[in-house]
Amino acid sequence: MHVYALSLEKGGCGKTALAINIAAAFQQIGLRVLLIDLDAQASATHWLGVDSEALQADESVLGVLNDAMKNRVSAQSVRSRVRETDEGVHLLAAHGMMASLPAQLSSAPLGGLFLLKQVFTDLAQATDTYDVVVLDLPPARGPVLAMALAASTRCLAPVQPEDLVVRALKALITSVQQVQANGVNPDLQLSIIRNKYAPRSNGDRIFDQLLRDHYASQMVQAVFPIRAVLRDSAAMQQTVFRYTGTDATEVRALFLQLIEELMVLDGRG
Ligand SMILES: Nc1ncnc2c1ncn2[C@@H]1O[C@H](COP(=O)(O)OP(=O)(O)OP(=O)(O)O)[C@@H](O)[C@H]1O
Ligand SMILES: [Mg+2]
Repeated sequence: MHVYALSLEKGGCGKTALAINIAAAFQQIGLRVLLIDLDAQASATHWLGVDSEALQADESVLGVLNDAMKNRVSAQSVRSRVRETDEGVHLLAAHGMMASLPAQLSSAPLGGLFLLKQVFTDLAQATDTYDVVVLDLPPARGPVLAMALAASTRCLAPVQPEDLVVRALKALITSVQQVQANGVNPDLQLSIIRNKYAPRSNGDRIFDQLLRDHYASQMVQAVFPIRAVLRDSAAMQQTVFRYTGTDATEVRALFLQLIEELMVLDGRG
């Protein structure tokens, strides 16, 4: 089971846009996909057509984490809360109450660090398990990020060409290195995905060179330009695989290219 964590503490860089479309892309090629919305803003949940305000907190991923804290069997706990979107992606929704998740984790044993890892270990042993899990994270460091990195196989950092992003990227790399070095998750990998690029802009070219100088080996080839479809499909509560607006074909192809790259890096299914 491959677990991809979309993370960067800079807001608005495309974590949610990439998370839901990466999930949909894996689903398109026939893999079984679970998307977990770990952000109290519930953007991914909303984008996939689920009204988080109509849910009880226990029906969201919070219910699964609470069960995990009580050592309840995770595969069953996940299954009872998953909803299947129109596009066939399985979703563990977020809930506004997750705003207090960092505090809740901080008071749990070991800061709740291994809760999600335990859920995935149980899930991987279940008969109807998933090939791919995608985590959408809030723009923050702290116990939720730590728990996610402890349970992931690869962290995906969307970077838009802005100076502030470099600082956020450095902070994320430090978090990844800590998780690798202290034995919590020594095999965790990191990939950088360029998003919101305007390839002909001089500023973006300079930024890109700066990234290459420092992180060339971690950058994936697929680069996501600024495209209206990635903004407008949110209002339609659809991924680009369902949405039919202009640019959709180009962006769909980019997501398929991206998951192909990930499968080369990580092996299939
Ligand atoms: N390549 C793109 N072209 C155009 N719009 C984009 C692109 N990528 C993302 N967007 C839009 O930019 C906005 C921010 O993206 P998104 O919500 O995915 O960022 P985020 O990193 O999840 O933000 P947050 O940190 O608040 O969770 C959204 O309106 C999204 O639709
Ligand atoms: Mg988001």
